[in-house]
Amino acid sequence: MKSSLSRFFPIVVAFGLMVACQASPTPTLLAPTLTTLHISATPTSTVSIAQRVDDLLARMTLEEKIGQMTQVENGSIKPSDVTAKFIGSVLSGGDGAPQPNNQAAWTKMINDYQAAAVKTRLGIPLIYGVDAVHGFGGLNGATIFPHNIGLGATRDADLVRRIGRATAEEMTAVGIYWNFAPVVAVPQDVRWGRTYEAFSENTGLVAQLGAAYVHGLQDGSPKVAATPKHFIGDGGTTWGTSRTENYQLDQGDMQVDESVLRQLYLPPYKAAIDAGAKSVMVSFSSWNGVKMHAQKKLIAELLKGELGFNGFVVSDWAGINQITNNYDDAIVTSINAGLDMIMVPDKYGVFIDGLTRAVNTGRVPMSRIDDAVRRILTVKFELGLFDHPFAYSEMASTVGSDAHRQLAREAVRKSLVLLKNENNTLPLAKDSPLIYIAGQGADDLGMQSGGWTLAWQGTVGNRQPGTTILGGIQQVAPKAKISYNANGKFDEKIIADVGIVVVGEQPYAEGRGDSADLSLSKPDLALIDTMKARSKNLVVILLSGRPLTITDALPKADAFVAAWLPGTEGAGIADVLFGDYDFTGKLPYMWQRFNTQLPAHALSSRGCGPLFPFGFGLSTRDIAPPIPTCPSQP
Ligand code: GLC
Repeated sequence: MKSSLSRFFPIVVAFGLMVACQASPTPTLLAPTLTTLHISATPTSTVSIAQRVDDLLARMTLEEKIGQMTQVENGSIKPSDVTAKFIGSVLSGGDGAPQPNNQAAWTKMINDYQAAAVKTRLGIPLIYGVDAVHGFGGLNGATIFPHNIGLGATRDADLVRRIGRATAEEMTAVGIYWNFAPVVAVPQDVRWGRTYEAFSENTGLVAQLGAAYVHGLQDGSPKVAATPKHFIGDGGTTWGTSRTENYQLDQGDMQVDESVLRQLYLPPYKAAIDAGAKSVMVSFSSWNGVKMHAQKKLIAELLKGELGFNGFVVSDWAGINQITNNYDDAIVTSINAGLDMIMVPDKYGVFIDGLTRAVNTGRVPMSRIDDAVRRILTVKFELGLFDHPFAYSEMASTVGSDAHRQLAREAVRKSLVLLKNENNTLPLAKDSPLIYIAGQGADDLGMQSGGWTLAWQGTVGNRQPGTTILGGIQQVAPKAKISYNANGKFDEKIIADVGIVVVGEQPYAEGRGDSADLSLSKPDLALIDTMKARSKNLVVILLSGRPLTITDALPKADAFVAAWLPGTEGAGIADVLFGDYDFTGKLPYMWQRFNTQLPAHALSSRGCGPLFPFGFGLSTRDIAPPIPTCPSQP
């Protein structure tokens, strides 16, 4: 719904006289002869954003200011309270989709919140945020792109930028102008459940692709604010240091000195800021025992001071609660550390009262509040929210569009890494007399999409539009005789020319994916054995959010493909399997030989290098080098 009138914002201009607007609910105008100049907030106006922000700020009450700093999840607030409390932001977390989960329901939900915001006294629009970390994963029907680990394997910054732009189009179609993405972590231990959300273990590659994604979201029209996250060092924690129940690495402690922090983890933030990132999200993790949400030295001094970040800093989901059990103290510490908006996300009344108390008792200076609100309002103006606060109905047709799915299919092709190809197995013949296909993952969009898809932890099964690996093979090689059985139950008397078995991980997200045992599951290993006996040449396709320990399975495969978490366009895999395109993907992480070699940097220190080094990847024309053997598991 386009707003019928562009958002007008009364700026009172006194000819030849200063107009002193008190910070009171109604401006006190001194000059009798005033011309009220209504200006649209559109970029064509002659008044700068800074002037409009100053004008607004000067007229806001403390309640209105604190409302702007408050972010609430959609399940915890009604539109009426958005108005009453001047709430500046609402989000849908990973499980925050409306029901039914469709474009119309998302659009109505968000437009209702926005209508409530713009009818406040000063008409300040809210900004709605989601984790569209691999396309708008929360919306059923959206295009789901490969998770970042697969994009890291592409090494293609322009592709990543185009994906950012396509994602922005699908988000603004329902009225969302803030993406809690990209993750710019530099994971040093693939046992981390968020490895797949990051591009790579390599700082330079993360910086390059993260900046490209920021450009994709923000440089086109309509704009979506990017959020490089999670500041800082979320991927550098030590195993077993997490204080979150059942987590080991996620939200743990990063135990490095400042030089390592600056060398390994800071460059992606500098690159994202140079690309114009409008927000940064703080990490749940700690640095040498101090929670990141309390780190004034890193947020206020390093991020905002030294790097000059002029957007706004948002907490993670109830992230400030982990600082201390005393919530008032947590509010004071985090806001004074430089956080500008708090993802509360539920008990917003308690937060608002706590921050109001902190200001009224002088624990948080008004200057800090004004700085935070100035940052938030500036971003809202820069995004054009005052001019166009509601959903872009003209973007509706981009959701799950053919063009976006073709883009996703291109990304899938470029993300695949060929680890092994012997006996002239790949590329496959499109008229192959008999291909057996097995594995749940061959026909499961949920498994091929992973976490942050329809639900926080992802789903299994085929609940959304898309093309499975099996569907893609049937599309690309219609002349081949294809037989599919998830459990590999085929006629034992008939040996197939080619067997394809899809194995890998069930979906997970965040610390629920932390695991010290990255071996293939026993059922997967058994299925590989079964398929080996049923086919002349065996192709193994791995769906995973990180390198899994495949040392035992590799010798049984004639060809082995790392497919990561490709998203809804599984036909991209068939495009390469059957030779329409060659493999070009390169490993974004070292590939461990044994679980006990992890974390990765320990690999070479055990006298037995990785199974495959960072950057490894074959084409079907390559003569594969012999895979180095190694003494038994250290
Ligand atoms: C989560 C994640 C963060 C996400 C936020 C909102 O806990 O840590 O990446 O943006 O909550 O869903």
